Amino acid sequence: MTKKRIIIDTDPGIDDALAILLALASPEVELEALTIVSGNCTAQQGLKNAQGVLSLANATHIPIALGVERPLLQPLLIAPETHGDSGMGYATLPEPDVAPIDSHAVDFLIERIMTAPGEITLVPIGPLTNIAMAIRREPRIVTAVKEVIIMGGAIRAGGNTTPLAEFNIFCDPHAAHIVFHSGMPLTLVPLDVTYQVVLTKEDVNRLLQIQSPITQFVADSTRFYMEFHDEYQSIEGCVINDPLALALAFAPQLVDAEAHYVDVDIAGGVSMGKTFADFYRMNKQEPNMQVALGVRPRDFLELFLERIESLAHSLTPAI
Ligand code: RIB
Ligand code: CA
Repeated sequence: MTKKRIIIDTDPGIDDALAILLALASPEVELEALTIVSGNCTAQQGLKNAQGVLSLANATHIPIALGVERPLLQPLLIAPETHGDSGMGYATLPEPDVAPIDSHAVDFLIERIMTAPGEITLVPIGPLTNIAMAIRREPRIVTAVKEVIIMGGAIRAGGNTTPLAEFNIFCDPHAAHIVFHSGMPLTLVPLDVTYQVVLTKEDVNRLLQIQSPITQFVADSTRFYMEFHDEYQSIEGCVINDPLALALAFAPQLVDAEAHYVDVDIAGGVSMGKTFADFYRMNKQEPNMQVALGVRPRDFLELFLERIESLAHSLTPAI
């Protein structure tokens, strides 16, 4: 089986960390690199968290590149109420023992995609600032990239940051506009499907049957995340948006996707960052992406739990 080569562009964040662990636990993919963007926390904190997660999983050979530290136009927005001041909830991570690479994330993305045309799957799970900057710096990445699987947006679903807008898109709607209209082969994984994948306390207790730094990290990070979901949205458990997007790199059958023309509001009013699909082709525009609108939640959660269990077993020294 040829491994799918993936680069995750991320604002780690709790569910980002779970997506990184899922990638490391999945034999179908080769995690080539992480590129960091601000979002759930500052880019500098996200870099530290990414280094810590790779150290936790004995994967410090994977390069990390720091990216753009502020949105293109919008003021910086971070989410400590959701992910904690550290971005990792109640979890603690090993102190980083590797430095990020010298290249800027935008240059790194361009170099990797252009030297392996048709090979790299890009999985942006944070605001799209790095991706937009890379498109503007080297437009040819639009046709050289194999596919782009974006966690972001809310189509028929309400927003999680404003009543209409989802966090990744709302943080940098101008970057999203550039990416959506670039011609890249896009798949959007919006809140319409991610809000159906809720990790529960019972799921975490199942993982804790395995005594491992990995399962302890998942428990400590998601405990904070669950408290947020309970307090702000009366959800029992936590929505693990980013791992679902990552899983589509190797298990696209988990969702039902449709081709639609999708746009994002950058007018700056109450619907700033709102994403919408032209379901009835009113604008006579060709579809610009695949949109995941249906999902098999328990199939995904079972896959996620099995993979994290296998990663924990692989990293826990046999007694
Ligand atoms: O709206 C959810 C998205 O915003 C997730 O990627 C989460 O990590 C935050 O970045
Ligand atoms: Ca994220």
